[in-house]
Amino acid sequence: MLDYDREAAHYDHTRGGLSRARAAASALDRLIPGPGVVLDLAVGTGIVAADLETAGHRVIGVDLSAGMLAQAARRLPGRLARADAAALPLPGSCVDAVTAVWLLHLLDDAEPAIAESARVLRPGGWFVTTADKAAAHRIASGLPPDDRPRADGCALLTTLGARYGLHLAAATSFIGFGQARAGGSDPMYPVLGFRRIG
Ligand SMILES: C[S@@+](CC[C@H](N)C(=O)[O-])C[C@H]1O[C@@H](n2cnc3c(N)ncnc32)[C@H](O)[C@@H]1O
Repeated sequence: MLDYDREAAHYDHTRGGLSRARAAASALDRLIPGPGVVLDLAVGTGIVAADLETAGHRVIGVDLSAGMLAQAARRLPGRLARADAAALPLPGSCVDAVTAVWLLHLLDDAEPAIAESARVLRPGGWFVTTADKAAAHRIASGLPPDDRPRADGCALLTTLGARYGLHLAAATSFIGFGQARAGGSDPMYPVLGFRRIG
C-alpha cells in the first residue's frame, strides 16, 4: 500500500481534486436514501466527505493515516478518529450509512471491514462502496478485465455482504476525473449499495 502519510499533502490535486470528489460524493448520495449520519471509512483528506455534508448528511470519518486525518481535520473538525476499518471504535447500530471510496481494493481481505460496517449500521441502513477499481482502470485503458481475484470484486463483495446481512440493492458509478492512465480515458468507477436487512 502507498504511504498515505507521505501522500497526504499532494493527495487531493493528484486524485482529480474537487471534480473527482464531487462525482464520488454525488454517486454515494444517490444510493443513500435521505440525509442521516454517515460513517466514511478511509475518509482520507475528507474531500469526498465534505461534499457529502454539502448534500445534507452528517459525516464522521475514520482512517489509518495520521497525515490524511490532519488534512481532513480542516473539513470535519472534531468528527474524525484514527482507526482501522476492521475494528471500528463505535457501538452497534449507530449510523444510517457507511461509505467506503477506494478502500476495499487496498485490503488483503475485505471481510473484517464489511463485518464491522454491518455491525455499526442500523437495521435498514446502507453500506455504499466502490468496487472493481482495477477493472475500471483496465477498461478505461482499452484492456479487457483480467480474472485475478480482487478484494473489491463485485461478486466477492456480494457474497461477503450477504454473510453479514448486507444485501446488494442498488448500483451506480462515477467518472474518475483526472484518473486516466497513459493513452486511456478517465475510468468509470462502479459503486455498490448494500442494505442491512434485520
Ligand atoms: C485512496 S485513499 C481514499 C481516500 C478517500 N476515501 C477518497 O476517496 O478521497 C485510501 C485511504 O484509505 C486509508 N486506509 C487504508 N487502509 C485502511 C484501513 N484498514 N482502515 C482505515 N483506513 C484505511 C488510507 O490511509 C487512505 O487515506
